[in-house]
Formats: sequence, C-alpha cells, structure tokens
Amino acid sequence: MFNLSGHVAFITGAGQGVGAEIARVLAANGAAVAVNDLFEARAQQVVDEINAIGGRAVAVPADITDESAVAQAVKKATDELGGCVDILVNNAGIPVTGFSMTTFAQSDRETWGPHIALSVHGLLNVTHAILPAMVETGWGRVITISSDSARVGEPRLAVYGAAKAFGPALMRSIAKEEGRSGITANSIALGSIANPAMGERDPEQLRKQVRPYPVKRLGAPADIAPAVLWLASNEAAWVTGQTIPVNGGYSTT
Ligand SMILES: NC(=O)c1ccc[n+]([C@@H]2O[C@H](COP(=O)([O-])OP(=O)(O)OC[C@H]3O[C@@H](n4cnc5c(N)ncnc54)[C@H](O)[C@@H]3O)[C@@H](O)[C@H]2O)c1
Repeated sequence: MFNLSGHVAFITGAGQGVGAEIARVLAANGAAVAVNDLFEARAQQVVDEINAIGGRAVAVPADITDESAVAQAVKKATDELGGCVDILVNNAGIPVTGFSMTTFAQSDRETWGPHIALSVHGLLNVTHAILPAMVETGWGRVITISSDSARVGEPRLAVYGAAKAFGPALMRSIAKEEGRSGITANSIALGSIANPAMGERDPEQLRKQVRPYPVKRLGAPADIAPAVLWLASNEAAWVTGQTIPVNGGYSTT
C-alpha cells in the first residue's frame, strides 16, 4: 500500500531490535536505507539481510553522540545511496527495564549522562545533520521513537523518560517550522517491547509487566515498524507534530 521508492531513509540504532525491523520494512517498501548503529557488525548484518532479498542498504556505523562521526555517516549514506536522506528515523536507544532502575531520588548523577547524551545530543546531531537537505529538497519525514514513559511518566524511569520526552518536543517545533517545506515531524511512543534479555527474567515479573496491557502481551518490533512506514509515506502528509502511542493500550490518554 505504501511506496517509498526513490526515498532514502537513515535509521539510527538499527543494528537490532525495533530499528532493525524498521530498516527491513522501509526497505521492503522501496526505500534505500542507511543502517546506523554504534556496532558496525550489527549494522552490517541487517544490511546483508536486506541486500540478500533485493533491497538496497548500506551500513553507516557511528556513535550518534559524536557530531563528526554523524557527519561522516550521513555523507556515506548519500554518497552510496544517492540523492538526499529524506526519511530520518531517530531510533537509537539505551535498553532499560523498570525493574533494574532506581527512583529519581535514589539515582546517582552518573546514571543520568548516557540518557541525556543519546536522547538529547545524539538526536540533535543527527536531525541537524539531515534536516537542511530535506528543507532544500522540499520533502521530508522525521520520525522519532519515544516511549510511553515520556508521555505519561513511569516510576524508576524518570531520567530515561524525561530524556525521551525531548524528541517529541523537538518534533513538534520542527513540524511547525518546516511544514511549509513539505516536511512532517512526528514521534511514536512505545510501550514495552519484548527483547531477548527479558526471556531470562523471572516469569512472575513478566506476568506483572504484562498485566496493565489490555492486549495481554508485550510488543514486538513488528508491531512498531508499520506505524513508521505509514508516517514515512506520502499518505501521512497531513499528520505532523504528533506523538502517536503504539503501546498495546498500556496508557489510553
Ligand atoms: N524496548 C522497549 O521496551 C522500549 C520501550 C519504549 C521505547 N523504546 C525505544 O525504542 C527504541 C529501540 O529500542 P530497542 O528495544 O530496539 O533497543 P535495542 O537496545 O535493542 O537497540 C538499540 C540500538 O541502538 C544502538 N545504539 C545505542 N547507542 C547508540 C549510539 N550512541 N549511536 C548509535 N547507535 C546506538 C545500540 O547499539 C542498539 O543496537 C529506543 O529508542 C528505545 O528507547 C524501547
């Protein structure tokens, strides 16, 4: 239904999990994709998978908190895929589990930095490196992966949630600044997504975690990628400045 042929997508933290699935789905729907990750081997594996089934992808490993590394990664993406990056998915994240974090009052200052570095400075670096070319082209999609912890709050995820609220705030302003340039900017607020590490956790803890979800299961990367595909498409041209919850009904406000 959605055709991204002729578009170039840059997806941060796409070497595994949600980002890798977004890369696969955007590529399967015609986009050329630049797969960023901190770990080159992860990014390359996703690229090999996409290219093996006839897609077009290139690995652009970089630590997105490093401005010059981001500039090199964006240059590699455009040099190797052509055109300009006109779909940006800000997905890179630091894994957290509510069970392993402390309250804000009990938190150590040293635990704050990585969240601010990635979800604030990393997001700014990548968006600032890519947005001007979109403005020049007159078409663009910026999609930031946020969290329900940013939207409705979550105990023991205070700093993570606050840092993840930065993206939606930036998207709202970019939406207002660049709507006239054919650019939309939105966020998706995720509920908990199952990952391999959770498999090793106490089944009772997992049962407790699933309880507030009306759909009675955690999410999967495949639950998220179609929402990104839609927001990236021409069909979503009238959706901008929004934070869309894709969360199994965890919060309904
Ligand atoms: N998993 C969840 O339950 C959940 C819930 C809400 C929101 N989210 C958000 O969804 C997004 C994806 O989550 P996930 O579960 O797939 O995470 P993940 O940990 O499986 O994958 C994230 C990827 O980001 C990469 N990354 C980390 N720091 C980076 C950096 N500085 N530069 C480049 N890449 C970097 C990692 O190497 C990793 O491959 C994140 O933004 C996360 O905050 C996840």
